Amino acid sequence: MSSTKIWTHKGTFLLAAVGSAVGLGNLWRFPYLAGENGGGAFILIYAVTIMMVGIPILIAETLLGRAGRRSPIMGMKYLTESHGTSKGWRAIGWMGAAAAFIILSFYSVIAGWAIHYTGLLFSGSLDGASADAIGDSFGDLLASPGLLLTYHTLFIAASGLIVGLGIHKGIESGLRWMMPALFLILLIVLGYGVMVGDAGAALSFLFTFNFDDLSLEGWLQAMGQSFFTLSLGMGAIMAYGAYMSSETSLTKTAISIAVVDTLIALMAGVAIFALVFGSGMEAAQGPGLMFVTLPIAFAELPGGSILGGVFFVLVIGAAITSSISLIEPVAAFIVERFGLSRPVAVGLMVSACWLLGLATVFSFNIWAEGTISHQLFGRSPFDVLEFITNVLMPLGGLLIALFAGWALSREEVVKEMSTHAGWFEVWQFLVRFIAPTAVAFVFLRTMPQVEGYVAPAIGAVIIIGAFTAGRTFMVRR
Ligand code: PFF
Repeated sequence: MSSTKIWTHKGTFLLAAVGSAVGLGNLWRFPYLAGENGGGAFILIYAVTIMMVGIPILIAETLLGRAGRRSPIMGMKYLTESHGTSKGWRAIGWMGAAAAFIILSFYSVIAGWAIHYTGLLFSGSLDGASADAIGDSFGDLLASPGLLLTYHTLFIAASGLIVGLGIHKGIESGLRWMMPALFLILLIVLGYGVMVGDAGAALSFLFTFNFDDLSLEGWLQAMGQSFFTLSLGMGAIMAYGAYMSSETSLTKTAISIAVVDTLIALMAGVAIFALVFGSGMEAAQGPGLMFVTLPIAFAELPGGSILGGVFFVLVIGAAITSSISLIEPVAAFIVERFGLSRPVAVGLMVSACWLLGLATVFSFNIWAEGTISHQLFGRSPFDVLEFITNVLMPLGGLLIALFAGWALSREEVVKEMSTHAGWFEVWQFLVRFIAPTAVAFVFLRTMPQVEGYVAPAIGAVIIIGAFTAGRTFMVRR
């Protein structure tokens, strides 16, 4: 059953994809990774990866979505059948759906922390609190399964409500007011950061390229981050692409998404580091940067509790526009495959995800380090879930690049991309060779057993194998 649904406006895909891309990845993960990995050097690698790997795969994923015009799982089934390729490539749809499902389960718990901080800051509870007290309050939050569960429930229910209303009444209308509002809030927070913080130090930290600061690990993290931040390899972009009008240019749209996403991450970085440096703190704080260091800065700066509250509203909003894109691919599949109504499909997906989210909630308290369950498995369930997605994400991206690069005909792609033939050549070279090689490299390094430069060597072998397989399975009948 094919879906004939299309976004109401030509520009909606861009809006929706930017909504998906901009989220905790930009506001929380990007600044702390940059902080831990030497600022400018990290950002340079990140920007190069976005251009060489992120944008080509973004084009490929949107292209597959629009060519399939169905949910990722059904769309890949259709494409493999219509192109006479191996059924194995359907794994792209299934893996994407699985990854979206798992990511949403923990994304919702982390977004829930932002709800807690919105309350703490607006109510003035952090006013004048010492750095230690603020650090302890984060610890207290994580130690309370009840609180974490309440926020997780609120967040996932709100996201489900939007998707349940449908792509027009829910997703489209929601994004149309949320996205400009979020951008406005970011501008306000940036203005505040520049006024009361140390913007000079922030800029020099983010834009001074000192390569000695960058480890191999940092390099790989920059590549992994470029995937996560563009929402690649999880069917989210493919699902939205299925509703994209046939006239919209893929190349221009993909470049715009990447540029806006990167600009927003940089703006958030400048705002956050201006506040952090302005309060005399360090950049390398790890995941606690947004939930401990930043609240400490807000607690001591003038007007900090109001502006801090506003900042965390931005975090919640950006996370919601991302989480709806994680619900859509799975919900759309349930509707297509089982003929259920959209609200029921969304209800099923969200309830199952909520349940899986309990594993993350308990990972910070009753199943945390030191508890029997942790000793049994050597890591927390949250770590396991994150590890699985760290594997599925690049693997999905790799397969998407190979499928789009080798299976689709030149005419088909040139028509879809509506771009100059010269750009097609560049794109094809990148998705056929460069992106798969880079992704295989990142992917292998997520394996704890693979040390040092063994990864690129194994990567090369895998890539040569993939090309051979690509040619074998992709010959069109
Ligand atoms: N891109 C989102 C972020 O940066 O927070 C996270 C995300 C959303 C990843 C949707 C994957 C996805 F399918």
